[in-house]
Amino acid sequence: MKRIALLGSTGSVGEQTLSVVAEFPERFRVTALAAGRNVAKLTEQVRRFRPERVALADAAAARELMRELGRETPELGIGAEGLIAVAEHPADLVVAALVGAVGLAPTLAAIRAGRDVALANKEVLVMAGALVRRELAARGGRLLPVDSEHSAIFQVLAGQRAEDVARIVLTASGGPFRGWPAEKIARATVSEALAHPNWRMGPKITIDSATLANKALEVIEARWLFDVAPERVSVVVHPQSIVHSLVELVDGSVLAQLGLPDMRVPIACALAWPERLPLTGPRLELASVGRLDFEPPDPERFPCLGLAWRALAGAETGPAVLNAANEESVAAFLAGRIRFPDVAAVNASVLEDYLARHAGAAARSLDDIVSADAWARGRAREALVEVAA
Ligand SMILES: NC(=O)c1ccc[n+]([C@@H]2O[C@H](COP(=O)([O-])OP(=O)(O)OC[C@H]3O[C@@H](n4cnc5c(N)ncnc54)[C@H](OP(=O)(O)O)[C@@H]3O)[C@@H](O)[C@H]2O)c1
Repeated sequence: MKRIALLGSTGSVGEQTLSVVAEFPERFRVTALAAGRNVAKLTEQVRRFRPERVALADAAAARELMRELGRETPELGIGAEGLIAVAEHPADLVVAALVGAVGLAPTLAAIRAGRDVALANKEVLVMAGALVRRELAARGGRLLPVDSEHSAIFQVLAGQRAEDVARIVLTASGGPFRGWPAEKIARATVSEALAHPNWRMGPKITIDSATLANKALEVIEARWLFDVAPERVSVVVHPQSIVHSLVELVDGSVLAQLGLPDMRVPIACALAWPERLPLTGPRLELASVGRLDFEPPDPERFPCLGLAWRALAGAETGPAVLNAANEESVAAFLAGRIRFPDVAAVNASVLEDYLARHAGAAARSLDDIVSADAWARGRAREALVEVAA
């Protein structure tokens, strides 16, 4: 029986994790759950999975949960401390499915407690990849990717020697604006950007998929997860999202992992690794898919993608700056305060402004990362006011 602690249980990845757990009650037991403000959903989850500990983002949400559950309320924490208590609660695997920088401290706490971590919350590795790698090496836990592209590479690399890997190729669906001309993308609305063709996901990653900032974050995530130089990570657009990513070996052989676009598969893979779960659900029939298309990404219409390599080359803290600027600009776009192209423009200007002052800055500690993140958020808010004016 594997004990699971889940950060972000009420989100898209969180709910799908619980659906996999529910399919295999003889294999998994949920010991702790953390959510933000969705009390109704967390109440249901507590009744169904009976965790020993839960966390919510604030006191108002916590009071509401206690009103709903009365004496059934598990041990309950609030805010950052609540998240850390869930991350450190006795478990064999912590699933990190929060979104954004809020996941950094609890994920690091889980790693420092020696836990294996199934990582969906890619912003953690983007912000603090080197630090996470050092902590993992010191504490002995494993990092199991949940992102479908990184899960694909992880599965393909199992049994390969690191020195035999020539290149990692991440596939990208291209998002809802893949075929749109630049003038039309410039006028894209929030609801158009939220209409992803292949995946149903939370709002932040869905906007990131439309700008290709998601793929930029994934390039950085791959750099740290697989310890490959940034120039050996590339991206190809593959609109069907069937080939989840590829690895080219030094002899020219290319290995890929395929499947229908269903996050339950990489989630199940991370939960059971190195075993496999006999998941129910539709199966890939290549004959009915018919064709698989590939094309290069367009850096003109999707300038967010190239910022990954720029951030990685510019400073160790560069990716944390890019991530923070992107979180702020996506929130502003979702709130209707800026236009779609402003997201990329603000991300680029904050990153360039930072690199002009701090080229080559090191990320030696969590403090270095937190201060780069705070600087970038402040600068991004100024830039957002300017573009909104
Ligand atoms: N969705 C996918 O298919 C997918 C695929 C690959 C990778 N990912 C990555 O997985 C991560 C999660 O994505 P998602 O789509 O599942 O996001 P989501 O649906 O927006 O869910 C986010 C979760 O984080 C919680 N949360 C947000 N802010 C919080 C705070 N301040 N304190 C405590 N909890 C907080 C939310 O709680 P409440 O809702 O209760 O407020 C929710 O449970 C992201 O990093 C994303 O890039 C997602």
